[in-house]
Amino acid sequence: MNIKAKQQIIELLKNAESPLSGEAISKHIGVSRTMIWKHIQSLLAEGYEIKAIKKKGYVLHQISDKLSEMKIQTQLQTEKYARQILVLDSCGSTQKVAGEVLLNQSCDGFLVISEEQTDGKGRLNRQWASTKGKGLWMSWIIKPAILPHEAPPITLVAALAVAAAIEKVTKVQVDIKWPNDLLINGKKVGGILTELQSTPEQIEAIIMGIGLNVNHTPNDFDEELSQIATSLAIVSEQVIDRVYLLAEIALELETAIQRFEQRGFQPFILAWEKQSTMIGKTVTARTMRETIKGTALGINEYGALLVDTQTGVKSLFSGDVTLSDKLEL
Ligand code: BTN
Repeated sequence: MNIKAKQQIIELLKNAESPLSGEAISKHIGVSRTMIWKHIQSLLAEGYEIKAIKKKGYVLHQISDKLSEMKIQTQLQTEKYARQILVLDSCGSTQKVAGEVLLNQSCDGFLVISEEQTDGKGRLNRQWASTKGKGLWMSWIIKPAILPHEAPPITLVAALAVAAAIEKVTKVQVDIKWPNDLLINGKKVGGILTELQSTPEQIEAIIMGIGLNVNHTPNDFDEELSQIATSLAIVSEQVIDRVYLLAEIALELETAIQRFEQRGFQPFILAWEKQSTMIGKTVTARTMRETIKGTALGINEYGALLVDTQTGVKSLFSGDVTLSDKLEL
């Protein structure tokens, strides 16, 4: 369906002081009345509250907060990212859907986003709560021009990009907890799950899942989650325009990943260390093999966390790290 015509209808209705007839709208935007009716039906399905008043015309009651391709396309400033997009009402996991998309077509920057996930996945096989209409639950198909062994720091690059977008939109400062947690006031607002599809020689694609708690109220978290998680709306005390935030994330991601492809992780190290309050603190790190305690010194050009322990400096490539005096996230 013609996205531009739908945008024009919304603009007209938004600015109208009295009901607008189908005929008036049709004259303004130059499409038939039948098409106007079809566009209005499609806008209703997207959640816009448009009332038809008998013998007068249409009135827009409420702009919908529902995600739609039209709204997202309108706000994008990217070249490639999210220019191809699949918006779903519900799915098991956007990671899984993105994997299926990848089988049929290949496109750098393809976005799968869903209002709800019924089987959202976190790192290390954890569940990821994905309440309907409250967050941004999305998976990006990324095809970077890098070698498989160069891929690991891409999660850290993405975390920096998402943090920058959040800070721009909410004016609240984000803390990155290695490797992929986005925290505000010590509680988790988001996480990143990076899945690599690759042969030893070549990356076919990276499916980057990003989950952000956006417009949750405290009641949207159960007791256990509310100890460790929060939302952007709670911390910034405002309802967040999810589409605006998504458009900023798309732009930051596209720019950062392009830079990473050209120059590697080195140019991001300082910014990442500045964004993480963990650096310089005593941490406990759990890997598949061991649990170590020490001072987080920083990260290296491979994205590994450097921890100064009693037996020397160790580089961590995966695992879970917590500040030694904090609840586990
Ligand atoms: C983590 O912190 O453990 C990573 C969480 C990643 C969650 C996102 S939500 C969108 C995408 N689909 C999923 O099933 N998971 C990721």
